Amino acid sequence: MSKTYRIAPSILSANFAKLGQEIDDVISSGTDFVHFDVMDNHFVPNLTIGPLVCESIREIAAKVGGIIDVHLMVEPVDRIIPDFAKAGANIITFHPEASKHIDRSLSMVRDLGCKAGLVFNPATPLHYLDYVMDKVDMILLMSVNPGFGGQKFIPSTLGKLKEARARIDAYTAATGREIYLEVDGGVNAQNIADIARAGADTFVAGNAIFTKGLDTDKNRYNTVVGELRASLATV
Ligand code: DX5
Ligand code: ZN
Repeated sequence: MSKTYRIAPSILSANFAKLGQEIDDVISSGTDFVHFDVMDNHFVPNLTIGPLVCESIREIAAKVGGIIDVHLMVEPVDRIIPDFAKAGANIITFHPEASKHIDRSLSMVRDLGCKAGLVFNPATPLHYLDYVMDKVDMILLMSVNPGFGGQKFIPSTLGKLKEARARIDAYTAATGREIYLEVDGGVNAQNIADIARAGADTFVAGNAIFTKGLDTDKNRYNTVVGELRASLATV
């Protein structure tokens, strides 16, 4: 049986002057999630987009079947979670270091009707999962240090993915409930197959997909998304 793989284009690398069109085109080219990177110039050294932008893309994302996957790189998280739920987020993930009460923040996301997830920086241990697996719908492993697109994939993420996959498989075997395993940073057509073999099922890709510029060819992302899918088909 072939596995379901999801591709999550990070709009951080998209052309913000025509964001709606970018989302329409990239989801229509065979991708699944709109990966929405929220940075606060405090938890990470960069400043990006917030709930207002989420609200303004929700209609186009829903129209083309794109799930909005909000990755919070902000601290603290509890104040802003309800704003994103209200603005149309489908999945909300946050870093354990950014919440004083991880269990409470996860429950808050779920209570607001979204899927909840924890994000692990390259040096952050997976033990934060020990007592909250039942409250987690997605585990996101950073394969770069968060803050910027276009960085190089950190190879030790492969071993960590295997560990996370083992935790998920044991949990799913015991409960029947699926948990997504997403990877974020430096993913491209050359390394995506190895990353999938290590256990990831959901792949964020920013720079590998988006090319800046005002290209108006609606199908311009078909080739690169096709290459990612072709690499995944070899797994
Ligand atoms: C990094 C962000 C990523 C990033 C991915 O902090 O969380 O989502 O934009 O971009 P690439 O694929 O270019 O590494
Ligand atoms: Zn991200």
